[in-house]
Amino acid sequence: MPTSHGAPLILDGQATAEQIREELRELNRLRLQSGQRPPHLTAVLVGNDGGSETYVAHKIKACASVGFGSEIVRLDSSVTQKELMEVVHRLNQDPGIDGYIVQLPLPSHLDATEVNLAILPTKDVDGFHPVNLGRMALGLPCYKPATPSGILELIHRNHIDIRGMHAVVLGRSPIVGSPLAQMLSRNTTPGNCTVTLCHSRTVDLKEHCRRADLLVAALGQPGFVTADMVRPGAVVIDVGTTRVEDPSKRSGYALRGDVCFEEVAPLCRAITPVPGGVGPMTIASLLQNTWQAANPT
Ligand SMILES: NC(=O)c1ccc[n+]([C@@H]2O[C@H](COP(=O)([O-])OP(=O)(O)OC[C@H]3O[C@@H](n4cnc5c(N)ncnc54)[C@H](OP(=O)(O)O)[C@@H]3O)[C@@H](O)[C@H]2O)c1
Repeated sequence: MPTSHGAPLILDGQATAEQIREELRELNRLRLQSGQRPPHLTAVLVGNDGGSETYVAHKIKACASVGFGSEIVRLDSSVTQKELMEVVHRLNQDPGIDGYIVQLPLPSHLDATEVNLAILPTKDVDGFHPVNLGRMALGLPCYKPATPSGILELIHRNHIDIRGMHAVVLGRSPIVGSPLAQMLSRNTTPGNCTVTLCHSRTVDLKEHCRRADLLVAALGQPGFVTADMVRPGAVVIDVGTTRVEDPSKRSGYALRGDVCFEEVAPLCRAITPVPGGVGPMTIASLLQNTWQAANPT
């Protein structure tokens, strides 16, 4: 297999997220010294979905690691829309809660859009509310969606200059692919890419991928990106996290990315692993948003 140059840079999301946590710890120390309470994040968790339980547990643990307050509001999977909306309204009004998230996906009988629209934009630390997405599109101060924001931080803090690159984003979801495509194309640092956004109706998707200097896979299709889709020397970001059965693991499952890491990595200039790439950065961005919520400018 042809290699572009030396070993690829493995973009270590754990280590980069730890840098961010260290910065937040210091900021929080100063905040506490000035007599203020720590920032507080609340996570609303509906039902017992294994993936959601794990993600929320990671978020709560991350809060503790930087000295932020946090709590989980657990609701039974049979909760009604009305009951869930009452929780949202209560969290909106609680001055002790700086920011909160409602962990997705919700059980199918619940309307996630109605919930999202009811979250107070100033407490929307996931950055999913239309006010925050609209402000982001206009380049105004806002809570940026955590995963795209984490990806840009990972690139930036690892000194990869993406200015002028042709970025190809696979996946157009409103929480990952679409906002990321926008953020990559803006006149900011990092940014200034020329962006192609691909989805399930894209014709000649492989050809688009082969032209990418920066390829981001956010599909939820394990192993989708293979070596024949990657230009030698490309930077590859794997957002995918799909649980696949793995009897060799104690949990019985493993997390798989959208990129066939073994065959793609040797071609790349830089690549993220799964796990340990984008995932920890998403949580670090959530902490940054929570800090921002507690310290409005
Ligand atoms: N690491 C993290 O922190 C993190 C955070 C968020 C999400 N994720 C992971 O990232 C992945 C994507 O999440 P999401 O919420 O963006 O997913 P999503 O809402 O399901 O969106 C998937 C996108 O991929 C496109 N797609 C799916 N199969 C395709 C194919 N065969 N060819 C071309 N396009 C295809 C879909 O196209 P259409 O629009 O045409 O249907 C859609 O735009 C998932 O594995 C998720 O678990 C990870």
